[in-house]
Amino acid sequence: MSKNFKGIILAGGFGTRLKPLTNTISKQLMPVYDKPMIYYPLSTLMLTGIKDILIITTSKDESLFKNLLGNGERLGISISYKVQNYPNGIAEAFLIAEDFIKESNISLILGDNLFAGSDLINILKYAKNNLSGAHIFASIVNNPKSYGVVKFDKFRKIVDIIEKPLEAPSKYAVTGIYFFDSSVIKKTKLLKPSNRNELEITDLLKLYLKEDKLDFSILGRGITWLDTGTFESLHDASSFVKTIENRQGLKLGCPEEIAWRNRWINNSQLKAFSSENLKSGYGEYLLSLLDEKIF
Ligand code: G1P
Repeated sequence: MSKNFKGIILAGGFGTRLKPLTNTISKQLMPVYDKPMIYYPLSTLMLTGIKDILIITTSKDESLFKNLLGNGERLGISISYKVQNYPNGIAEAFLIAEDFIKESNISLILGDNLFAGSDLINILKYAKNNLSGAHIFASIVNNPKSYGVVKFDKFRKIVDIIEKPLEAPSKYAVTGIYFFDSSVIKKTKLLKPSNRNELEITDLLKLYLKEDKLDFSILGRGITWLDTGTFESLHDASSFVKTIENRQGLKLGCPEEIAWRNRWINNSQLKAFSSENLKSGYGEYLLSLLDEKIF
């Protein structure tokens, strides 16, 4: 039997690049077209089959996330909460989550990352079921210097990962979803803060690389990866979601739909959600799923 797999959504930080929008509301609650931003990474974890999820946020925002998602029961999952009061780096999540992770494998997803594409789920599930060490997901981007970037040798083996390089060694950025085995806690404790005073996820990945335990998948052309931390990228993500949803009549990042399709909630639970959201069209969409005819 494969090992227990839990998920963390990192939704902390000050959202400084989105001020004044984020003066009173968390970045990860900003609208991405018709849903709060956190619905998208939450959906990605749920699609991967992960049902035990920890949301890490600031003490200021914790109650807002609790109001939105509660303990997850309504989605047939478990959601718990922990606080990261200061953005000391992505890897700090594993120290904060030590009691939550215990002996489990863990997926960390950044709360402002949006993934879409039909092949994505197969790629994530395959990596989840075959994890040995750590697994990252790389995507071609136009601006690799803004990310952690993968350096490959001529055999397409990863030889380095460079955080925000001055000269990018490839166009492959490390996206904001990561899988780790439970040795992640021990390894994180070995990390030292970087020049920008953060525990860097890239340094953690390099510890796995040194042990030859860093695996990767490429998210190819059919898969979209967007982050949403600036005005531009937030607007682009909203436009992307709007375009796809209006064209297909299918929603992206809809946790209630995923819970229902995964049979984690039943028809009457889906109906209850629908009636609370009827006027926006979101509820009507959920109701329409019940009459779905595939062919
Ligand atoms: C972080 C990571 C970087 C990764 C990116 C994905 O960057 O440090 O390696 O490529 O997330 O979104 P940051 O959000 O700190 O700019």
